[in-house]
Amino acid sequence: MKLSNYEKDILAGKYGPAKGLCLKIEVELAEAYGVDRLVPISGAHIDANSYGRVSGEAKLDFARRVVGEGGKVSVPTTLNPGGRDITRWREFRIPEGFVHKCEMMEEAYMEMGAIPTWTCTPYTYGTVPCRGEQIAYAESNAIAFANSVLGAKTPRYGDFLEVCAAITGRAPYFDLHKDENRLADLWFQVEDPKPFSYSDDLFYSLLGYYVGSASGGQVPVITGLPTGINRDALKNFGAAVASSGGVGLFHIVGVTPEAPDLESIASEEGRSRRTDVSGRDLLDVRGELNDTSTDGVDLVLLGCPHASVRECQLVVDVLSGRTVADGVEFWIQTNRGVYSWLEGMGISRRLRKEGVRVSTDSCLFNWPLDNWNFSSAVTNSAKFAHYAPNELNLTTSIRDINGCVSAAVTGGVYDEL
Ligand code: F3S
Repeated sequence: MKLSNYEKDILAGKYGPAKGLCLKIEVELAEAYGVDRLVPISGAHIDANSYGRVSGEAKLDFARRVVGEGGKVSVPTTLNPGGRDITRWREFRIPEGFVHKCEMMEEAYMEMGAIPTWTCTPYTYGTVPCRGEQIAYAESNAIAFANSVLGAKTPRYGDFLEVCAAITGRAPYFDLHKDENRLADLWFQVEDPKPFSYSDDLFYSLLGYYVGSASGGQVPVITGLPTGINRDALKNFGAAVASSGGVGLFHIVGVTPEAPDLESIASEEGRSRRTDVSGRDLLDVRGELNDTSTDGVDLVLLGCPHASVRECQLVVDVLSGRTVADGVEFWIQTNRGVYSWLEGMGISRRLRKEGVRVSTDSCLFNWPLDNWNFSSAVTNSAKFAHYAPNELNLTTSIRDINGCVSAAVTGGVYDEL
């Protein structure tokens, strides 16, 4: 493997043991995959900072080891949701012992010099990478958004390689870091969206889920969609395509920056692998994500990925003064940047008044939910609907925001199509 003099000095321990250890991990892994050099990065997003129900201790051990050896991040580094809402953890009934572990994790990453974003949507505020920037991101939706919508370049890093990259400022030069790996391998042509519409956010979640399932980790390009797709729809598309198919980069012709037209983003072979998709196909996807064994609901969950101001405003508008039914919890997950705007706009006050709880800093999948008796959930998130049945043991249905609000105020799930 070719290393610069600076990288050789890091390995030799000239810049401290933590940086040396992290670069050693990266070099060994890179060599195992036949990668011949490293690339300097200008930003990182860490996922290993969540103290969660699964692998919390291993993550904490790693963070404390890096801190113990003097590790500091070398590039602006944002952090994924942690294991608790830092301010309102009591309201969400998170046990104190678990909170204590979360605090240790938070302290470790603050000691490393990371930015306390605690969000899976770091692209909504803070450090937003530009087109062409080499970065090292973990968290599948953030990766898909950064690559596809922003045009930055990152493979799908996972714990703990992204931490090593943040500490060293270097990443193995492979996969989506390289332009030749960013061309589309297969093509999806969207035909008639009915019974959905192009202005329906759920349409993009279902389409993402469909495309991801059929892509199997390859790079898809989508045609037939209108320009001007809103950011939330792209966010939800990215989360879905990454959940069902491990996709780290997608292109939408006329919408995402690397796809001005089909010919320049897909080779002849890619263009020959064409699938036509219609709204009828997406109804099947919706059926796949809906468990119809119950029509009751005890949790309505929005904000997976973390909700935007627009999504929260939509909830307030649709609620229009109605309150959440007894026996139902309606939760919206978001980040501190969005929450401060919700406070300033009076939206959080209205949500609280109508019985909606807003959480920040965290993700339900990290929490112990033992103090709640949830068995069935409704969500607008294909990602949540994909993982919750197995990971949280919840019967799950997917609806648009109107359908989620309707479930919250009535306590029942109804089919609106
Ligand atoms: Fe974010 Fe957790 Fe969903 S990290 S994308 S809220 S699973």
